[in-house]
Amino acid sequence: MAYPRQSALELSGFKMRQAGISKRVKKLTVSAIKEMMHLAQGIPGVISLAQGTPTFLTPHSVRFELGQELMNNPQIGKYAPFAGLPVLKSAIASKLKRQHGIKVNSDTEILVTVGAMEAVAAAILTVVDPKDEVLIFSPGFPSHIMQIELAEGRPIFIPLNEAAGWTLDLAAFKNKISARTKAVVICNPNNPTGSLLTEQDLRSIAVLAKKNGFWIITDEPYDFLVYDRKAHFSILQISEIRNQLIACYSFSKEYAMSGFRVGYIYAAADVVNQMLKVHDALALAAATPSQYAATLALTHGTREVSYFVKEFAKRRALICRRLDQLPDLFSYQTPAGTYYIFVKIIPPFEDYQFALDMLKEAKVAAVPGSAFGPTGKRHLRFCFAQTEDVINEAFNRIEKWWSNKKMSKSK
Ligand SMILES: Cc1ncc(COP(=O)(O)O)c(C=O)c1O
Repeated sequence: MAYPRQSALELSGFKMRQAGISKRVKKLTVSAIKEMMHLAQGIPGVISLAQGTPTFLTPHSVRFELGQELMNNPQIGKYAPFAGLPVLKSAIASKLKRQHGIKVNSDTEILVTVGAMEAVAAAILTVVDPKDEVLIFSPGFPSHIMQIELAEGRPIFIPLNEAAGWTLDLAAFKNKISARTKAVVICNPNNPTGSLLTEQDLRSIAVLAKKNGFWIITDEPYDFLVYDRKAHFSILQISEIRNQLIACYSFSKEYAMSGFRVGYIYAAADVVNQMLKVHDALALAAATPSQYAATLALTHGTREVSYFVKEFAKRRALICRRLDQLPDLFSYQTPAGTYYIFVKIIPPFEDYQFALDMLKEAKVAAVPGSAFGPTGKRHLRFCFAQTEDVINEAFNRIEKWWSNKKMSKSK
C-alpha cells in the first residue's frame, strides 16, 4: 500500500493521465517540496520558503578553477568512469578520514552518484524487493517514501517524539520491526525537523539491525550543519555495522552546489559492486565537470563552509523570533541542525489547504507537513536558507495575512 498523501498539483487542477501508465508510477506523488516550488513559480512575487536551496554562491575558488579545467582538460566533455573519477574518490576518502576518523578504500568502497538523491534511490533499489518493509521516520524526507514505493517496498513509519524535540522513541522503533523488515532509512540531522539522532540512538539502531539482519541506509546531506557547538555523530563511525550499511552523502548543501548534482555512497566493496548495476541503469555516471567541481570543493571550499554555518545560525535565530510573534498560529521545536523548521499549525486547519491558501493569499510558499508522513499532519516545513531580508518579508506577509484572516472570521 502506498502512503496515501494528497497532491498539491492535483488539488490545483493539474491533470494526470491514467491510461497506459504503470501501476508503480500511478500510485506515486511528486514530492510536495517540488510541487510547492512548481506552483510558486506560477505566481508572480511569491517568496518561497519551500525548497531547501542555499542562497550562497558556489565557492569562488571552485568556480574559478573549474573554468580553467573546462578550457584545458581534454577529458572534461567525456563520460567519467562509471564509479567516479579516481581523483574525486580519493578526495572523498580523505574527507571521511578527517571528518569521521575512518579509513576507506577509495577504489572499491566509494561510488560517486548524481546527488544523494540517486545514492539513496540506488541503495533502496539494490536491497529492497517488492513487499519488503522499510522503516522510515515520521516526519521524514518525502523522496525517501517515493523511493521505497518505486522499489515496490512498503514504507513503515516510526513516529518521532514531537514533545521531546522530535527525538527517537526506541520503543516505537522496536515495535515496527517485523519478519519483513529489510532496511531502515535514516536522515541525520533530520529533514524536516532538524532533530539529531544521538550516538546512543545510533548504537541502539545498529544493535537492532544486527540482531534482526536489516540494512541501514543513511542519508546525511546536513552532517556539516549542526548548531550550538553540538557534535554530529554518524552511524558510519560504528565499525561493527559497516557491513550492513549504505551511507549516502551530498555536495549540494555543504558546498552550495546543488545544481552540479553530485553525491556519493560509502558501502562495503561487494555491496558497491551490486549497486554499480543500478547506477549504470539509472545514470551511467555523474557529470564529469561536476565531479571536477566536487574535487575542487573538497580541496578549496572548506573556508566557505564555516561561513555558511554561521550565517545559517543567524537565520535560524531570526525565524524562531518571527515564529514567536505568531503564538496563536504556530508552535515549534528549535531545530538542532539543518536549515528547516517544522512548525505545528495551532488552529484546526488541514495542512495542504493551509499551505495552498498561504501561497495564493499571502504569497509565501511552505511545504505541507503530511507530505513528510502521518506525524506531519497539521504541520508546515519552512526552509530558512533564504537571506534575513527574505525571511523577514515572508513573515511580514504571513503576519498581515493571519491578522486579516482573524478579523474576517470575527465579523
Ligand atoms: C534528506 C535529503 N536527501 C537528499 C537530498 C537531495 O540531495 P542531492 O541534491 O545531493 O541529490 C535532499 C535535498 O533537499 C535532502 O534534504
